[in-house]
Amino acid sequence: MVAYLDNAATSFPKPSNVIESMTAFMAQNGATSGRGAYQKALLSDQLVFQARSKTARFFNHPDPKTVVFTKNVTEAVNIALKGFLKSGDQVVTSAVEHNAVWRCLKMLEKNKGVCINVVPADKNGQTSPESVERALTFKTKLIVFNHASNVLGTVQPIQAIGEMANLRHIPLMVDTAQTAGHFPIDMQDSHIDILAFTGHKGLMGPMGIGGLVLSPNLDIEPLISGGTGGDSAYPYQPDYYPNHLEAGTLNVPGIIGLSSGIDFINETGLEGIHSKIKMLYNYAVHQLDTIPGIELYGPLDAQKTVGVIPFNLKGCPPEEIAFYLDQKHHVMIRAGLHCAPSAHQLMGTLERGACRIGLGYYNSKMDVDQLVNGLRGYLRNKGAVLCI
Ligand SMILES: Cc1ncc(COP(=O)(O)O)c(C=O)c1O
Repeated sequence: MVAYLDNAATSFPKPSNVIESMTAFMAQNGATSGRGAYQKALLSDQLVFQARSKTARFFNHPDPKTVVFTKNVTEAVNIALKGFLKSGDQVVTSAVEHNAVWRCLKMLEKNKGVCINVVPADKNGQTSPESVERALTFKTKLIVFNHASNVLGTVQPIQAIGEMANLRHIPLMVDTAQTAGHFPIDMQDSHIDILAFTGHKGLMGPMGIGGLVLSPNLDIEPLISGGTGGDSAYPYQPDYYPNHLEAGTLNVPGIIGLSSGIDFINETGLEGIHSKIKMLYNYAVHQLDTIPGIELYGPLDAQKTVGVIPFNLKGCPPEEIAFYLDQKHHVMIRAGLHCAPSAHQLMGTLERGACRIGLGYYNSKMDVDQLVNGLRGYLRNKGAVLCI
């Protein structure tokens, strides 16, 4: 039996309805969306529109037209940040951003003189809404936060930050890569103006699909321009959504997979998924804590995290542990810096990195037991491990 514990990277397995709907589309339809007037193309349009509507509803957003599809959350973040921030603007962000946001901001700092103000956090990456408010200045154009850290698992108080930002008339952008599909997200309630999502993690869709859900009236310059299937004689990118930010042929099979992933979550129940992951998180923390020399990081409180648990074994290289677990116990985890160096800085693991497990809906206590058994095996065989 294999234990896949890398759901923070991408969820696996995918629900059967996701695989079936994508296969059916590619086998029986295969037409582009927004371009043709024949029946198959119109059906493709309809499927894409249904996916926009479901995505909007899923995040409690009123307008499907301002759901923009991209290839992943990284592209979505780049479109929003590079299209919205102008030279001299200030942006306020968390101390635990993934490189999707952080490198994009650093490029904007270098190329456009955007000023980045990082809000201090505690050792778990937790930020208080008050410290976000203190970081604001009259130049602040945007607050951008991840909803949960992909390294520490820490969930940020997005609703309180959103309420404060709304009172100050500063838009809030949230990277929901680690929470969408595992955690209820209500854009209206939390005053989120720009929500960036990726389809292949908690939303249970395939790789290659993500997007933005946008409040109206945000002035976002398109990052890419090109064909949208309509108004072809007009020389510029149309200013209406979603075409304003969507150029080129859409990933219709991916969009259909995302749509089926959302169906799966709605049918299974988001609360049930959330509770199952919390239960597994508590179980895993409890079991891991029995291992001699283990260092567990993050809040270690299921109420304050998603299903991400970073850890190290004293004196042991994380890569070696992950390699051993895979080779000898068929347990898949991540090891290294996980694309978020500032989170490692807070944890004190910037030099050596850490192991990380990412729990998903399809995991069970048995997967955790297999991991714990594997770690005990690693410790027993430590001297011989390098000779695998
Ligand atoms: C918080 C966060 N943001 C952004 C990303 C990037 O996701 P993608 O590779 O799907 O663009 C990840 C993926 O690990 C993430 O965890």
